[in-house]
Amino acid sequence: MNSIVKIDVPVPPPLDPDLFVDVDLFGQAIKADPSALFIQWADKPPFYVKVDGHIHAVLCQHDQVQWALTHPEIISSEPQKGWGADQFDYFNGLPLVLDYDPPEHSRMRRLMAPGFTPKRIASFRTAIDTMVKELIDEMTVKGQFDMVEEFAAPLMYGLLLGGLFEFPRDVWPVLINMSNAMALVATVSEGAPKPAAYMEAYDAAYAFCGNLIEERRNAPPMDDLVGSIIKAHDDEGLLSTTELFSTLVQLFTGGLGTVIATSSNCILRLLRHPDQLQLLRDNPNLLNQAIEECLRIDSLGNFRHRFVIKDHIIDGVPIYRGMIVHLSLGAANYDPAKYPDPARFDIMRNPRDILTFGYGPHFCPGNVLARSVLRAAVGQLITRFPNLRLADPNETIVYGGMPTERFPLHVNLRVD
Ligand code: HEM
Repeated sequence: MNSIVKIDVPVPPPLDPDLFVDVDLFGQAIKADPSALFIQWADKPPFYVKVDGHIHAVLCQHDQVQWALTHPEIISSEPQKGWGADQFDYFNGLPLVLDYDPPEHSRMRRLMAPGFTPKRIASFRTAIDTMVKELIDEMTVKGQFDMVEEFAAPLMYGLLLGGLFEFPRDVWPVLINMSNAMALVATVSEGAPKPAAYMEAYDAAYAFCGNLIEERRNAPPMDDLVGSIIKAHDDEGLLSTTELFSTLVQLFTGGLGTVIATSSNCILRLLRHPDQLQLLRDNPNLLNQAIEECLRIDSLGNFRHRFVIKDHIIDGVPIYRGMIVHLSLGAANYDPAKYPDPARFDIMRNPRDILTFGYGPHFCPGNVLARSVLRAAVGQLITRFPNLRLADPNETIVYGGMPTERFPLHVNLRVD
């Protein structure tokens, strides 16, 4: 007999209709160019949207987003079943570091600390420069290439799977498939099972981690990332397959697509603003701040979602327990109170406190690594290729990836 599980989903009271905005937060239009909406929203009080029949709240002002990211007693990261967030359940209900509030969050985050020791990051810098240089040599021969598939993706596979994890090349496809399959979850309607292709990729990656942990327990300890994670945890108690899987999966999915998409967005932005590109070419010492401005204006994540677990009023607008709230990292980066004339791409701006990597307890631990890769990739591409240009300036860029992300599928370039 089937047992019916009753889920307690709080329903908000009637809400002011004027506070609703009719927009598809996750559609192609907002991925392709969110700037007009972000300018409208960045100094606006919170508002509501309807997503699959649920009422969600949206926060856009820089200080409000920062506040929300640091008040887990009101705005929690812990997934709430039945509240309408199935399309963001990229890991099949697996508990990830992103899904915990403090203090439990610190324990999960400690597990991944071996990936980000200053020694490991420093040893990476040379590897990054070398890999970028080798890829650029290959692209020189090609004359035309896809920045996403032929440059940024192999770079990140090599750096993360080969460099950070030290995995042999023949196991990379299992992890790459898992990372690519995550976008399939976006199409799942509430309560529906995950697509078969997703489950296949998930099960294969899970089995890979199970075997890995087994092999490592039966072999002499190794000083690589996996060895350090197992050791860090085994000092407190045996690491389970689920914990290893969740730690690895968060690290490689957190790092692969994000940097692939962001480096492609940076190049696209610079090529579409030839005056700023020329300024950078003439002043290579502006590279760091040019990257920061690219990160500000093209935050990969338009939104990060959270769960309202306690009623609260923000800027006169009530948000109620039971609501999903979308914190717009992208719009917050356009808040005119922080960034005057926010739609202007200006590499002299040197923006501070951008929210592209989040804020508070979940602030991206990979941000230093990501910034190093972006500087190396963009810096070397524009230096080595004075003639770098879009293969077809009129080509429409199509975006994929997660619903909340701006992941360009192809950015075709010419360098001959
Ligand atoms: C440009 C590239 C990147 C962007 C834009 C980015 C963005 C973000 C954001 C916004 C968060 C916070 C999410 C939230 O609060 O809900 C985050 C967390 C995280 N990122 Fe990144 N990230 C990037 C690169 C990386 C890299 C290279 C790695 C690892 C190799 C990584 C691993 C993680 C992990 C593990 C978390 C979860 C941290 C936690 O929950 O405590 N990210 N990232």
